[in-house]
Amino acid sequence: MGRPRGGDPMTRWAGPWPTDGIAYGADYNPEQWPEEVWADDVALMRQAGVNLVSLGIFSWGQLEPEEGRFEFGWLDRIVDLLHEAGIGVDLATPSAAPPVWLHLAHPEMLPVDADGLRYTHGSRESWCVSSPVIREHATRIARVVAERYGHHPAVRMWHVSNEFACHNGRCYCDVSAAAFRDWLAARYADIDALNLAWGTAFWGQRYASFEQVLPPRRTTTISNPGQTLDFDRFSSDAFVDHLEAEAAVLREVTPHLPVTTNYMVMGDFHQIDYTTTTPLLDIVSNDHYLKADDPRGWAELAFSADRLRGLAGGDPWLLMEHSTSAVNWQPRNLAKEPGEMLRNSLQHVARGADGVLFFQWRQSRAGAEKYHSGMVPHAGADSDRFREVVGLGATLGRLAEVRGSVVEKARVALLWDTQAWWATDLEAHPTVDLHYLDLARRLHGALLDAGVVVDVLPATSDLDGYDVVLVPTLYLAPTDLSDRLAAVVAHGGHVLVSYFSGIVDESDRVLLGGYPGAFRDLLGVRVEEFAPLRENGTVRLSDGATGEVWTERFTAADAEVLATYTDGPAAGGPAITRRTVDGGGAAWYLSTRLDGPALAALVGRVVDAAGVAPVVEQPGGLEVVRRTGESGRWLFALNHTDADLPLQAVGVDLVGGGTHGRGDLVPARGVVVLREGA
Ligand code: GAL
Repeated sequence: MGRPRGGDPMTRWAGPWPTDGIAYGADYNPEQWPEEVWADDVALMRQAGVNLVSLGIFSWGQLEPEEGRFEFGWLDRIVDLLHEAGIGVDLATPSAAPPVWLHLAHPEMLPVDADGLRYTHGSRESWCVSSPVIREHATRIARVVAERYGHHPAVRMWHVSNEFACHNGRCYCDVSAAAFRDWLAARYADIDALNLAWGTAFWGQRYASFEQVLPPRRTTTISNPGQTLDFDRFSSDAFVDHLEAEAAVLREVTPHLPVTTNYMVMGDFHQIDYTTTTPLLDIVSNDHYLKADDPRGWAELAFSADRLRGLAGGDPWLLMEHSTSAVNWQPRNLAKEPGEMLRNSLQHVARGADGVLFFQWRQSRAGAEKYHSGMVPHAGADSDRFREVVGLGATLGRLAEVRGSVVEKARVALLWDTQAWWATDLEAHPTVDLHYLDLARRLHGALLDAGVVVDVLPATSDLDGYDVVLVPTLYLAPTDLSDRLAAVVAHGGHVLVSYFSGIVDESDRVLLGGYPGAFRDLLGVRVEEFAPLRENGTVRLSDGATGEVWTERFTAADAEVLATYTDGPAAGGPAITRRTVDGGGAAWYLSTRLDGPALAALVGRVVDAAGVAPVVEQPGGLEVVRRTGESGRWLFALNHTDADLPLQAVGVDLVGGGTHGRGDLVPARGVVVLREGA
């Protein structure tokens, strides 16, 4: 079975948003500082316009120095101090960092890697998610914290643990093995059903009972893919169980407070299928860090924010963490340029965030993250960084009216799926050069450059109302997706499916009869053989485009051929096809990774065919997104280039002040937010 996916994105939070305007603040770790610093902290927070801080995330060791002995005094004082200053508290349950005494008493709760090596304590998240010890103690301390602070007027929201599965996503210990077997027994009931699903007839891996099954620990060569995929599902579910257990305590004690946990919808993190967690949350939150040396980092930020909005069902969400400047965990931690922090922050707001928080308030003096930037840097408040922080607070203050509005619903949807990602990652596939989300990012980037807004949705989402649906490398597709896509096409919409989509069933067994088994009829094509390219190899297409990474040998009995391969392993055969149905809708198929301009041209053709236009006509490098709400419409324009660029829109600029006329310039690397129609 496993946890249900998709469906209603979450229990809608009917209560108040944790802050009056846009939330602004940071993780606040006062326990790292002598108390004399706290008054200065709070005064500087007020100066910066901070209205929400996440407190206590890593404080278990301070709160409960010995089992059952609590030291609340410091937390009592800081919560009161914040309250007196009108600053709200997003209070954490401290399970991300269990105290040393708990580790020493229960070394069996430390996680074990696939090689059988048990980790030691001394960092954070050093626990096995299946351990009954952590579950018991995490829910116990959550109750203690909730009972003591949950009715304090400063406390506005719960922050459950921290970035679940960031460091301990997979544990292969004996406790995990037993829990995995229980999970499998619930999913399959009968061991022969498991044998069939995992294809254990191959290499004689047949199991006689669930008792014989282990996690996919290190073995001689390729492990069973069905086993690995189910272990991913099981591990993800285990974190969701843990979240549910902590959240249940919080809801029991403080039903008036919303519950969140900070996701990591960024980069390549994919340890949890977040679609199974959203129903447990009241507000969806995300952490996002730019890869400092990525010149298109802003495009990755937009992609992350759009994925998050898709998980939040289009509702406003919270940016729980990002950085004011450098991080400390990349090979080269580049400082942000002046203005970059503001641009990053407003880009998240443009794409649906109603809060901008950082890790962390005051840059640490000691410990693992002392070279990670903060709102107050080592240099102190007399610094350009803090002056920018104050400026950002003032800007967000002027944007208060935006809170509660939503990003205008896009007509284009792009689908992604964590389970497809796990399955794509499995060993022994046709090429090591195909990476999940690679094509999704390229498609998203092409739309971004064209100024077309796209909703990036979990593949289980409702597709009604979309005119274009993009399905990049969805190797393992939900079983009903083909029908949902067919409905889009039948209503006159356009669907673009790419190579290596719809190949296997949910147990990673190939759908036979010609690829892509899930979408053959929809697309009118039948792929007989994959033909990936040599390292860095390319092929030519009849329309002049270049294909990279992957080609296929296929026929298009029920589709029009738009381009063929002129060389390479599939020379002479179709490369891009389109099956048009009565009513004008069409299902397009792309069998190779096109070079950038060719991909942009194809995407342009598809959106043109559906009659989808950009938010406003704009030059490349100017990102434009509109939010709408009961009280108005706001147009966000972010200039990611070194030249001033014209914006064809009219309104009052809430960032710079003054009126913006049609064609007025958005300064190089600058941002305007127009209140439209006023
Ligand atoms: C996050 C984490 C924070 C801090 C930050 C540094 O992953 O939640 O506690 O470590 O990274 O960038």
